[in-house]
Amino acid sequence: MRIAVIGTGYVGLVVGTCFADTGNDVICADVDQAKIDGLNQGRVPIYEPGLTTMIGHNVEEGRLRFTTDVGPAIRDSEIVFIAVGTPEGEDGSADLQYVLSVAKTIGENLNGYKIVVDKSTVPVGTAEKVAEAIRETSGSDDFSVVSNPEFLKEGAAISDFLKPDRVVIGVDDEQARQAMERLYAPFTRTGKPILFMSVRSAELTKYAANAMLATRISFMNEIARLCNSLGANVNDIRRGMGTDSRIGSSFLFPGCGYGGSCFPKDVKALMRTGEEAGEPLRILTAVEEVNAGQKRLMAEMALAHYDGNLKDKVFALWGLAFKPKTDDMREAPSLTIIEALLEQGARVQVNDPVAMPATKRILGDRVAYFDKPMQAVDGADALILVTEWNEYRQPDFPTIAAKLGDRVIFDGRNIWDRKTLEGMGFTYYGIGV
Ligand SMILES: NC(=O)c1ccc[n+]([C@@H]2O[C@H](COP(=O)([O-])OP(=O)(O)OC[C@H]3O[C@@H](n4cnc5c(N)ncnc54)[C@H](O)[C@@H]3O)[C@@H](O)[C@H]2O)c1
Repeated sequence: MRIAVIGTGYVGLVVGTCFADTGNDVICADVDQAKIDGLNQGRVPIYEPGLTTMIGHNVEEGRLRFTTDVGPAIRDSEIVFIAVGTPEGEDGSADLQYVLSVAKTIGENLNGYKIVVDKSTVPVGTAEKVAEAIRETSGSDDFSVVSNPEFLKEGAAISDFLKPDRVVIGVDDEQARQAMERLYAPFTRTGKPILFMSVRSAELTKYAANAMLATRISFMNEIARLCNSLGANVNDIRRGMGTDSRIGSSFLFPGCGYGGSCFPKDVKALMRTGEEAGEPLRILTAVEEVNAGQKRLMAEMALAHYDGNLKDKVFALWGLAFKPKTDDMREAPSLTIIEALLEQGARVQVNDPVAMPATKRILGDRVAYFDKPMQAVDGADALILVTEWNEYRQPDFPTIAAKLGDRVIFDGRNIWDRKTLEGMGFTYYGIGV
């Protein structure tokens, strides 16, 4: 099939590459000239394991191309995916300006029947708005709009896309339904279902899924805080809960708050949808509030440890990305923690395996960057672990003890063992452990 993917970000790039990999002819279009120039010279703009190789292979085979000419890309295609950003608007709702601007461009370039697929995460009713925009600019009805929300996780995006738990497709007409079934057939051969439903249900499914995952995280963060007060261990509780087959073990890890490009904005957008529909989602208000508090927790712990005075204290901070295996810094808890420490007059020395360039674009020289984790600890008083990259799991603690002025460790992901570290003379703070 001839496919155009409009928006070549974390989602568009992975989706376009994976469709090319299954034999489709894919053109990825983006308005960001630098991004497209880079891709055409073999530079992949994001860190995603396995992606560079897969792009290279499909470009070489002539199945994957990149362009800034959005119009011709649309005209050449049978299926057009909209994969642009839907950031948080001023009132918390999803900002649809990019989606609708693409819809307009599709309308301007409609040269025969096309299937337009909303891949971006968009609120209920967006497909209708997209259809309206296309109809208005083209004066034609010769298209279908499908909702096909994406559930991939950054860091495991390729395997999530190639082997999805399920594919959700909201579609209201038979021709588009059959085309989508054909397109996804290579990914669902292992028996994972394609769930067909109405467009509105598909749009809501994505938000409900993300809101549920965010709820589990905030719930466990509250339980972890309770553990801290009561002297219980949240790791035991997590295992005791997670082995219950009705509950399951994923997304029960407490930490320093969820971040990233999806959960924060999707929770807020769903809350806004609820308000507009006269059905406020009270649980999500709490989920959000707990998360905001959790992002501040590490800095509050540090402040409490140092009796309210962080002036001239030096913190080594390991892990900047909002989660391991990505360089995505959107809504990363590390930023909240760093801002709070700097505000209190502390200095921060950071390390992250891949997210330092992205962090530099946000924080500039307000923190010091170190290529190796141990260099960041040099001259520091305390160490804060924010993102649980594998390389931080078993560091050389005797060396850290020798370097770290006050031998204090704040473990924001509970990856280290309190007893071991206390045995080595560290003061250890975890989250509910
Ligand atoms: N990042 C994730 O893990 C993830 C997972 C599932 C769903 N989503 C959803 O997918 C959507 C895209 O997310 P993302 O993280 O890939 O965003 P992103 O910000 O990484 O990429 C969006 C891209 O769209 C481009 N763009 C904007 N307007 C354009 C236009 N008019 N024409 C062509 N290109 C245009 C931008 O230049 C940018 O490269 C969002 O709705 C997001 O919620 C993201």
